[in-house]
Amino acid sequence: MAETFATIGKSVAHDSAARHVSGEALYIDDMAVPEGTLHAYCVPSPKAHARIVSVDLSAVRAAPGVHAAISAADVPGRNDVGPIYKGEPFLAEGIVEYIGQPVVAIAATSIKAARAAAKLAKIVYEDLPAILTIEDALEKQAFVAKSYVMQHGDAPAALERAPHRLKGTFRNGAQDHFYLEGQIALAVPQEVGEMTVWSSTQHPTEVQKMVARALGRPANAVTCEIRRMGGGFGGKETQPAIIACIAAVLADKAGRAVKYRLDRDDDFMITGKRHDFLVRYEVGFDGEGRLLALDIEFAARAGHVADLSTSIVDRALFHTTNCYYVPHVRATGHACKTHTQSNTAFRGFGGPQGVLAAEHVIDRVAHAVGRDPLAVRKLNFFGPAPRDLTHYGQRVEDFVADRIVAELAGDVGYEARRRETDAFNAANPILKKGLALSPVMFGVSFTALQFNQAGALVHVYTDGSILLNHAGTEMGQGLHTKICQVVADEFAVPLESVRIAATNTSKVPNTSATAASAGSDLNGKAAQRAAQAIKARIAGFLAGQYRIGEHEVRFEAGHVIAGDARLSFREAVQLAYNGRIQLSATGFYRTPKIHFDRASAKGRPYYYFAYGAAYVETTIDTLTGEYSVDRAELLHDAGRSLNPAIDIGQIEGGFVQGMGWLTTEEIWFDATGRLRTHAPSTYKIPVARDLPRQFRTRLWEGGMNREESTHRSKAVGEPPLMLATAVFLALQDAARAAAPKALLDAPATPERVLMAIEAAK
Ligand code: MTE
Ligand code: HPA
Ligand code: MOS
Repeated sequence: MAETFATIGKSVAHDSAARHVSGEALYIDDMAVPEGTLHAYCVPSPKAHARIVSVDLSAVRAAPGVHAAISAADVPGRNDVGPIYKGEPFLAEGIVEYIGQPVVAIAATSIKAARAAAKLAKIVYEDLPAILTIEDALEKQAFVAKSYVMQHGDAPAALERAPHRLKGTFRNGAQDHFYLEGQIALAVPQEVGEMTVWSSTQHPTEVQKMVARALGRPANAVTCEIRRMGGGFGGKETQPAIIACIAAVLADKAGRAVKYRLDRDDDFMITGKRHDFLVRYEVGFDGEGRLLALDIEFAARAGHVADLSTSIVDRALFHTTNCYYVPHVRATGHACKTHTQSNTAFRGFGGPQGVLAAEHVIDRVAHAVGRDPLAVRKLNFFGPAPRDLTHYGQRVEDFVADRIVAELAGDVGYEARRRETDAFNAANPILKKGLALSPVMFGVSFTALQFNQAGALVHVYTDGSILLNHAGTEMGQGLHTKICQVVADEFAVPLESVRIAATNTSKVPNTSATAASAGSDLNGKAAQRAAQAIKARIAGFLAGQYRIGEHEVRFEAGHVIAGDARLSFREAVQLAYNGRIQLSATGFYRTPKIHFDRASAKGRPYYYFAYGAAYVETTIDTLTGEYSVDRAELLHDAGRSLNPAIDIGQIEGGFVQGMGWLTTEEIWFDATGRLRTHAPSTYKIPVARDLPRQFRTRLWEGGMNREESTHRSKAVGEPPLMLATAVFLALQDAARAAAPKALLDAPATPERVLMAIEAAK
């Protein structure tokens, strides 16, 4: 039988897997740099909030090895990297607003020389009062943008009528992205004011745009390129513009290439993290635990500027009922201004904070009515109309969380495990076990309509090899591999025939961030269309040559069948070239069906939803608060998976990253606003030994996208992070076994578990 080369749905290895392991995969810091490349370092603000009275850089400029030293006044264009709102400087201007903020940037012959010179900067500050907590910001009504309300029905009135009501306050902590490769940019000046920037960015177009703006030049003078990142996780959606602009302005001043690479501590001190939230709610329900009304207020720590905070708070509001139908909802969101790092996108983009709050509320309701939380979850699932309506007006047409939850509960023997856990807890005064099974429902699409587009550029060369460019970036998630699969499948050639090119703004322009998990949805379609355009041209040409219909030309198993003729792909391409057929094409895609009106907070913001469920068991030691995650069983819907191996990797990785957020990772500021957890010595991400002892991840067999996504697959980058909610809920369950009134905030560090139990005893 002829080889088919079919790769869709096959677990082919990540295109760089071997090179990741051998160290041959090139990251920006590995690149050969031009002769005379300088290294950048920034003088950080020592104060959370102060006026800059004066800046004297004469000693810095005279220091050995220094080629350029700049402050805000030296920026030739605009000192602004605000992605949505104006006025977000990459070098402090007039005031400093967080400890660590870059005030002065220096380029020198070595990083050592730049650091030594930084000590010579004479900067005089005048202290201003700082806002350091969400509570303080709420009290002072200090917000980075207008607060926002999403409403459906009449929550206050429905609360009045509800037979039962509960009020509460809940907190979740921030999280550092801890990508293995820190932020980095290499800016290389070219002729006539052109600048090429290699940036570790999820959003090359934004870097291009911001660098052009900073230099006061048009976008066509700046090119941004990125082959791969060593992780992004949302932390490289907007933040790389800060790094790239500093490198580019220095390079422009010095007339030399400049590399700006943050070490781990500087990365922690300068860049934003996941938003910590303070959530206040009141929920109304009936005696069985059926949700009747929810009035919920989310206050997020935005930091000193808005960045993407409003969109992130919006996504928390969208996800505030997770999988559940609530007839009356009022959800209010605040992006609180604090004099700390500007918090930013992080895997889930506010969704995790919304889902976590929803599950905390459901968990409390279940306990109030004395039922198992899983029963109350099931009772509240979205269902047939009218129970299919979200509080933002989108009907849930593809609901499968009920089926996934039922399947997982059956697999793990939920009821029996509950009885065994209760028996264990009754017999053990010190160790307490807890379990939880919780679902996830995540809306896929950017809620800002314009970002839901992508382009691709495909070249076929006369030897039959194919070069693929598309708008997406690779950060380890396997996007390039998936898009290569799509293109190889379209041409029916072996995967090895398709080579991915670095993402480059001069190849595919005006790109969106690779974010919102939409990378393979958007770029898969764009690349597929580019390939289809070339195929159609080849088919048209061969049809003419062989005097047959175009539909009689087929691309099959590395060949092109044209009527009775059977040509190798390479022969067909060569013939088409000789016939002067264009073998290069662009492809473009925009997501259909979506719309959202922010003023009325109604629409169909999401093309579809991704679903999953997790079952988790934990044991806590009530004397110390220490705990273990004994078992995790994940069942996730990736639609018709493009690549099951990569998708399972995304699910496992997302879950563990979410587990870190909810358990050991704690961002902590001292009373002056200085971040004290800025290195692995004080900030604990999960490592191999923290993995659940029993850990199983499966793709849901029923997975199928009812929308026409790329080969009916579903986005898988972010949704699984929220599966970790079950870890938090299982710890909450175990804490209750020790003290029925114990309530946890996130992260549930061992200290916090111990304190919650002690406080409730
Ligand atoms: N996986 C790896 N290995 N590294 C990453 O940085 N980022 C996540 C997710 N998975 C990330 C990752 C985030 S925040 C998003 S939005 C998606 O990947 C982006 O890629 P996709 O749209 O191609 O899924
Ligand atoms: N997700 C991730 N990044 C984004 C989004 C989103 O919904 N909107 C703007 N940037
Ligand atoms: Mo992901 S937070 O959308 O980059």
